[in-house]
Amino acid sequence: MVGKIKIGNRVKETFHDHVPVAHKAKRVVGSRGQYAIVHFGERKILNLGISEILPGSKELTFKETNGKTAATFWVSNSHHEGWWVTHRYVEQEYRGYNLGKLGFGLSEKVVKQNGGHKISVSVLSVQPGVMAVLLSMGYAICPATIPAFKKFLKIPEGQKLPSKQKVLSQIRHGRLEHIWDPVVFEKKLVDE
Ligand SMILES: CC(C)(COP(=O)(O)OP(=O)(O)OC[C@H]1O[C@@H](n2cnc3c(N)ncnc32)[C@H](O)[C@@H]1OP(=O)(O)O)[C@@H](O)C(=O)NCCC(=O)NCCS
Repeated sequence: MVGKIKIGNRVKETFHDHVPVAHKAKRVVGSRGQYAIVHFGERKILNLGISEILPGSKELTFKETNGKTAATFWVSNSHHEGWWVTHRYVEQEYRGYNLGKLGFGLSEKVVKQNGGHKISVSVLSVQPGVMAVLLSMGYAICPATIPAFKKFLKIPEGQKLPSKQKVLSQIRHGRLEHIWDPVVFEKKLVDE
């Protein structure tokens, strides 16, 4: 799965080497929440839906026009702890199409539209892909969970965290330790 893709003249290591950059999700110009992908050779439109599932909890979905779900994200507001992404799931066959990045990016937008200034995500070590997406989107690790993150990366307590690029490479190659404690990723949301 880990391989190289070409972006212009540049060659970059990626996790999903079966999806060329040109096939990844792109906003359909002039549409309201439509994204196009080339899915195993077929151009498909994914429609973004945002609904309130419970007071303070929003669901974002990407669905094909026939109703098939490609990805689902939930963002929930707890008065004490702020906004959290409580569920995120890109269906297996739609992974590598940028829907993870888009889903988290749109979740941030929903939080901002609802007056939130910070978004948090609690991630278990069985979901290293979620950690990779969040790191590539500029999320920081909540200081209280840095010890758990170091353990996950097999880094001794006293040692500094390596650069983001090194961490991403280590996650891509799966040189990781299973841990029980979640790692919390967070991002301050600034007004544009
Ligand atoms: C993690 C997940 C959201 C990623 O979705 P995706 O659509 O495949 O991710 P994207 O295509 O947006 O990838 C974004 C970046 O993350 C990287 N990435 C994605 N999955 C990765 C993985 N498993 N390992 C390492 N890197 C990964 C991609 O290579 C890409 O990096 P790049 O832009 O530098 O190439 C998806 O695999 C998933 O839903 N996993 C299951 C999560 C889960 O268990 N949820 C249930 C509990 S709430």
